[in-house]
Order: sequence, then C-alpha cells, then structure tokens
Amino acid sequence: MNSSPLTFPAGFLWGAATAAYQIEGAAHEGGRGESIWDVFCRVPGAVADAHNGDVACDHYHRSAQDVGLMRDLNLAAYRFSISWARCMPDGVTPNPEGIAFYSRLVDQLLAAGITPWITLYHWDLPQALEDKGGWAARETAERFADYAAVMHEALGDRVRIWTTLNEPWVSAFLGYAAGIHAPGRQDPAAALAAVHHLLLGHGLAVRALRRQDPEATLGITLNLTVADPADPGRDGDLDAARRVDGQSNRMFLDPLFRGEYPADVLADVAHLGMAEVVRPGDLDIISQPLDLLGVNYYHGDAFTKDPAPHPGPAGGAPASPLVAADGVRQVPRGLPVTGMGWEIQPEGLRRLLNRLQREYTGPAGVPIYITENGAAFEDVPDADGFVDDQARLAFFDQHLRAVHESLADGVDVRGYFAWSLLDNFEWAFGYHQRFGLVRVDYETQRRIPKASGLWYSRVAASNALPAAGG
Ligand code: FCB
Repeated sequence: MNSSPLTFPAGFLWGAATAAYQIEGAAHEGGRGESIWDVFCRVPGAVADAHNGDVACDHYHRSAQDVGLMRDLNLAAYRFSISWARCMPDGVTPNPEGIAFYSRLVDQLLAAGITPWITLYHWDLPQALEDKGGWAARETAERFADYAAVMHEALGDRVRIWTTLNEPWVSAFLGYAAGIHAPGRQDPAAALAAVHHLLLGHGLAVRALRRQDPEATLGITLNLTVADPADPGRDGDLDAARRVDGQSNRMFLDPLFRGEYPADVLADVAHLGMAEVVRPGDLDIISQPLDLLGVNYYHGDAFTKDPAPHPGPAGGAPASPLVAADGVRQVPRGLPVTGMGWEIQPEGLRRLLNRLQREYTGPAGVPIYITENGAAFEDVPDADGFVDDQARLAFFDQHLRAVHESLADGVDVRGYFAWSLLDNFEWAFGYHQRFGLVRVDYETQRRIPKASGLWYSRVAASNALPAAGG
C-alpha cells in the first residue's frame, strides 16, 4: 500500500456540485415559473412520500451562508445549475428578479474566491415548453439556445465556464421513455427525438455562446458508464453490453466528437423513427469543438440477455428502458453497493477515463473534468448532528485514487466535483437518499459538515490524498 500522500497536478480543480431544483426551494417566489419537476412531483406516486422541491435546502434564501460553507470546505469551484423557469418563467420571457438571484450568487462566489461553474440545464424544463412538446419537439432546442444567450448576457462578464446540459441520457430516457423522471412520459420514439433535440440544443447554445464570447470555456456533462458482459464467453451477454454502451455512452459521445450517431444503435432503434428527426446539418451543429467534457460517474454494471442464467437478487441500476425492452438486464456481481443499490466499482472509473481519452477526448484535445461522483449511504447523526460517514469518505478516496491512476496513465483530467455539497432532493427518491458532504437537517435547515466533508476539505487544500490509512 502507498504510504506517502498522492499529489494531484498543480492547478487540479477541486469542487462540489448541486442542481437548482434539488437545493433552491422558493419554488413559487421571485416570479419563478413552473418546471416539469414541479408538475411531476404532484403526480401521485411519482416521488417517494410525495416529497418535492418547494423548500428543499432553502438555498435561494441562504446562498450567502452556503457560499461561506464552501469557502470553509476549501472548495476552489462550485458547479451549480440555473433554473430556466426562474429566469424565463414561460421559457422565453426574461424575469429580471430570477436572473438577479444568480447574479448575486456569482458575486458571492467570486468574493469568496470560488470559481463559478454553470450548468444551464439540469432537468427542469419550463412546463410551458413541455406543453408545446418538450424535448420531443425541435423548437425546444432553439428556445434553449435563446435562454443560454440571455443568461450569458447577464453573467458572462463574471462567469467563464459554461456547460450546456447535465446528463441528457437521463432527461431523454428516464423522462420520456421510462417515465420515472419528469415529464413522466413513456414513449420510446419521443425519447429518441428528445436525445436528438437535447444534443441539437447543446450545439445551438454552443454556437450562440461562441458568437457572444469567443474566449469562454464551453462544454457539456454526460453520465457515462462501463458496461461489461456478465459472461464474456456468451454472445448474448456481449450483445447486451454493446447495447448498453451504445445507448448510454456512444449515442452521445459519437455525435459530439465524431459528428455521427453510432450505426449499430441506429439499427437497433430503426423502428422508432429517429432518422426522421435528424435534419441535414444538425450533426455539424452538434459536433462543434468543445473546451471540456464533464463526466459524471457513479457505477458500472454487468449485463446479460439470458432470461435466467444468473441466480441472485434483481439488479439496482436501470439500463435504458429501450434496451430493457430488448431483453437486456443487469446482473449483480456481488460487489458492495451504495444506498441507491449501485455497485461500487472505482476501477471502472479508470477504465472509463482511459477509454474516453483514447477514443474521444484525446484525439480532439479536450480535457476531462469529473463533474459528479459520490454516494448515498444511510447517515446516522450523533446527538450534535454530526455524521461520521466513513463509507462515503472511503468511496471518495477510492474513486480519487482511480482518477490519480488515470492521470498517471496519461489521461488529461483537470478537476473533480463531489456530488454533492449538501444533502438534497434526490429526484424520485425525495429526501430519503443523502449524498451531501454536508448534512442538512431539513427541520431546521442547519448545515453540519460530515466526516467526508471535513476530509474532502483537507484533500482540496493540500491537492493530495492522504497516504492510505492516513
Ligand atoms: C446524477 C444527477 C444528480 C444526482 C446524482 C445522484 O445523475 O445528475 O442530480 O441526482 O445523480
């Protein structure tokens, strides 16, 4: 075991991430319009215990305190998303009061010496645009580019890093096919149209921002995975892994970095009409050069197409509902799992990063940032509210070691954002799954850094992982 600290390259960016709907609350204040998540949370059974983001962490009213917390944790950067419906309640008309909230937040961050890192879209489409077809409609991509330009006009003098979408796979497949995320639709053809229009929206926004600000750093965040065959000796398992890799990874990476959708995936979904929504020139817009790729990594999985070959519990990780319809399912490998039921597989992160560098980002000269990585566990606070979350701390440690190995392999990774700064509204799980470096007592809104948060603040300050066991 390594007995000296593992140092990261000078300038490695240490941060934490959040998303607007998960922390802001103030859902009906300051002229904010409704988003698809406000509406989805009212659907009976959609979210555990009918939780919603009406109050969440009340960050809208506590941003100054939360920025102080970030400074105390030695964070160099903060990745947050903008609520489109707060800034443009009907999706098109600017709301100065909503925009002013983000302008204040940016000023607070800069005053604390923290780099603001913007995600323009973390899943909360204005409901008014969903009513016109949502991401299944091409027009939404154009509205997104207009929104990007408006936000950049307001904040571009102070914010230099702009990312377009967070995890378009989730928006498209869980929102429009599985129906377990907003807007709750179960229409595979709409999900594929949404994939294309999300990517087109990304490309149109990049084009608009580039025109407005050629010096800005522009990128996108994808949730990527490593999909292994449960048994590499079985053709069905190899095909299962190919399908998951195709729809989760290559469906997004190939258009962005190569200007084409993967032929095998297009053939798999040929009956669902995706070809008809792709117009000439779209892929040129989608594949414009980027300045960074954000990677969210939580777990990799093994897959099979064999109906009942592997005894054991049902898997916890949803593959795309489209591949599930093809008979693909996840096979638990007996690895330890997090509170979400996700297998803990840090070596998968190294494999993923190395593959990205080899096949996509390396040839394009695009640096990688880990924009999310983290874990939910059942936290048990002591009488003072302190959580000694050794399992989460170990999760961060193991994954950062994997990042360090990738760096040694020559992969251009420039930073890491823990998910998440605060315990928050974990979508369909409501407030039951806690991912924070900092505990939130939802009764009092008190924030209490966990053991993992204190540990992470030392890692960020020293730009190094302590020696194993240290
Ligand atoms: C990611 C999301 C983030 C959070 C984590 C646990 O897929 O981007 O908002 O829910 O998962």
